[in-house]
Amino acid sequence: MSALDDILEQFAPGDAAFIADPYPVLAELREATPIFWNESTNQWMVTRFDDVSAALKNRKFGRSYTHMFSHEELGRTAPDVRWTRFNEHEQWSLLSLEPPDHTRIRRLIAKVFTPRAVAKLAEPIEGFSNELLDRCEELGTFDLLSDYAQPYSVAVICSMLGVPTSDTQLLLDWSHAIVKMYELTASEETKIAADRAAGEYIAYTRDLIARKRREPDGLLVSELARVEDEGESLTEDEIISTTMVLVEAGHEATVNTLGNGFRALMHHRSQWERVTSGDVTVSSAIEELLRYDSPLQMFERWVLEPGIEIGGQPLNVGDEIAMLFGSAQRDPRRFDAPEVFDVGRDDPAHIGFGGGIHFCIGAPLARQELNRSLSGFADRFPNLQLVDEPSYHPTFVIRGLRSLTMSTS
Ligand code: HEM
Repeated sequence: MSALDDILEQFAPGDAAFIADPYPVLAELREATPIFWNESTNQWMVTRFDDVSAALKNRKFGRSYTHMFSHEELGRTAPDVRWTRFNEHEQWSLLSLEPPDHTRIRRLIAKVFTPRAVAKLAEPIEGFSNELLDRCEELGTFDLLSDYAQPYSVAVICSMLGVPTSDTQLLLDWSHAIVKMYELTASEETKIAADRAAGEYIAYTRDLIARKRREPDGLLVSELARVEDEGESLTEDEIISTTMVLVEAGHEATVNTLGNGFRALMHHRSQWERVTSGDVTVSSAIEELLRYDSPLQMFERWVLEPGIEIGGQPLNVGDEIAMLFGSAQRDPRRFDAPEVFDVGRDDPAHIGFGGGIHFCIGAPLARQELNRSLSGFADRFPNLQLVDEPSYHPTFVIRGLRSLTMSTS
């Protein structure tokens, strides 16, 4: 057995101990090799920052291949027909598309999800945050995730989309169930639940769009139904997938960035104090939260054209790569002292929001949400404490805490 095989044995995305702290194993892998074959998922795993960053921007890779090849042509199996509703929900998601559909749909979405629309959310975002911070203060000891981050992030997205407040819990439950399908280790039971949730969510969204067409309110779903550009508009199925991806992509990542981020801040008290004292800007601190312990550990791409290699490894059309963001974000070739959590690093050019054509369309909103939250907690609760050591959900691709119990003093 080679030294690399020894390390590979420890790369165990289904294992609780690995999920709790994947970074030592990721560091060993990254230093051993820029790329390795993962037998259990049939993917090339990419470990280093420059390679990941280049792959994100290289159009010879795609998030999907069906615009160029049939499943048979690439020797791949078609999506499982048992998960029709799940497949339907993501069919027109930006994350399932490549040009020309991706270009057309992203352009139409960008016409309504504008920087101005995001700036207009500043006031409601502050309102939601303050209300929840009041509640945390009343409680004294609270769970950052269920008492703050989850209701906060879902309220922001729902108010942006124009989803009634009374329905936010429904969306939250559907979103949680659906995103589990993206794990490398999803069980049959999880897949059944994800498919059921997708079906209910599609029916709900179809109805919501019909209501918005009858009574437009100027909010995002209503605007998506109205938007036109160069004679093009979005079909109902495209609006459905778009609405759903905005909730799923927007909600889970924001919540888990707050959870992982506050855990890091509490474990590095001096860094928290740099934030509360105003020694560093909140903007710099949130970029470090996104780099140091991103909840999004892995993104995949298909090789669409010949002539690509990574780290000397030639890749064939139809190969799949998995980019290990958590490893890349701690690559010493790119970041000085990458294992050090330094809120003053002030380096927004990480890959926490991706790169290339799939760069996170919600990044300005996410930054605003994170900024408001960190400022709010730092101003109101400088003596914030971790009450006990949290545990992680048994998922690696979206890596987040089950809960984060904290006290305000
Ligand atoms: C801290 C929070 C967030 C993080 C870390 C994050 C991260 C990312 C990353 C890494 C990608 C690129 C995926 C890839 O290249 O395969 C992405 C794409 C995306 N994100 Fe975010 N995101 C966050 C918040 C949001 C929010 C708030 C929204 C919307 C409300 C959003 C909507 C999207 C969408 C729609 C895409 C797909 C874009 C495309 O394919 O063109 N995200 N996000």
